[in-house]
Amino acid sequence: MFEELRPQFPILRNRIYLYSCSQGAFSDAVEEGMNRYRESWRTSADPWQDWMGAYEDLRRKFAAFINAAPEEIAIVTSASAGINPIASALSFRQRDKVVMSEHEFPTVGQIWLAQQARGAKIRFLDHPATAECYAAAIDERTAIVPLTQVSYLDGFRADVGEITRIAHQRGALVFLDGFQDCGTRPVDVKALDVDFFVTGTLKYLLGPAGLAFLYVRRELIEKIHPVVTSWMAQRDVFAFDAKRLDPAPEARRFEGGSPPVPNIYMALPALDLLSRAGLDRIASHIETLARTFHEGAREMRIQSKTPRASVGPLIVLRSKDAPAMAARLTERGFVVSSRRDGVRFSFHLYNSLEDVHAALRALENNLDLMERE
Ligand SMILES: Cc1ncc(COP(=O)(O)O)c(C=O)c1O
Repeated sequence: MFEELRPQFPILRNRIYLYSCSQGAFSDAVEEGMNRYRESWRTSADPWQDWMGAYEDLRRKFAAFINAAPEEIAIVTSASAGINPIASALSFRQRDKVVMSEHEFPTVGQIWLAQQARGAKIRFLDHPATAECYAAAIDERTAIVPLTQVSYLDGFRADVGEITRIAHQRGALVFLDGFQDCGTRPVDVKALDVDFFVTGTLKYLLGPAGLAFLYVRRELIEKIHPVVTSWMAQRDVFAFDAKRLDPAPEARRFEGGSPPVPNIYMALPALDLLSRAGLDRIASHIETLARTFHEGAREMRIQSKTPRASVGPLIVLRSKDAPAMAARLTERGFVVSSRRDGVRFSFHLYNSLEDVHAALRALENNLDLMERE
């Protein structure tokens, strides 16, 4: 469907790229963004003025991308840097429980575990955690439910709508981690009704590492008083008054220091590329690839860790030795990754049905390393 875009991703000339769950493919558009940054640094008479323009431009574009308002977006350097200011500002006095799946990305588990020192009590749910599992665990003592939209380990998709409904009914907040989904289909944080949303640019948003976004629902922003802060998080950034702490009334109050300007320049064209391609079209393309791949693996009786009904983007197949299998695929020209006993096959707009068939052929020739039914 996106054949015309493939030449814009140089690595696709030499490799079959099924690695977007780790890092999206580098594009000419992103290279152009790097060049623009270099030129601005080299030639601008007022570089910080230009860079602050790009930074606000990115905030507006990302806000539109997830149907939020720009003031609800903080630009940060990692998902962790977005979650920490919220976790460290919550009081665990009235409500001390944090309920999450054991399949959260490690940083999420670790950030909330660190809050045990401030009174948080962490409850991990066994995987796969259905909405019923959350319903049984969330109660009037629950402060927050950190929730991964798509598991990085097996592509399992959480029932965000139902879990959020249950959490809110019981007065708990929901913090959605969209890192393994955002960029593959439309995201509407208002329709999802979550309180916080975090994602980074390096995977399906096709940007670099070192840049992430935190969304905070408007009504919550000023009720949360960050204890992790910076000069860039103040109401008037250019007041330059070390004796005054006056956090911005926008989500910017959760930001760290000087923004990651080079990364911002790279992320802007990547977001434009995705928006121009159309998130609905991207979602339906990914679904076709994921379903075809899953079906092919099923015909070979390879065990899948991902539920059969998956629409992608991540399909994980069980291997007897996943790192060895990933190494064999690398030798055959693929870019893939493995986690624990799973080999991860991740699909994005630049992948084609030929990529899917090539991956299936490679599996067929290496069945000795795959777990079969
Ligand atoms: C689901 C998920 N959350 C978070 C992260 C990364 O967090 P951070 O940006 O803090 O490194 C990743 C991947 O690296 C991820 O897959």
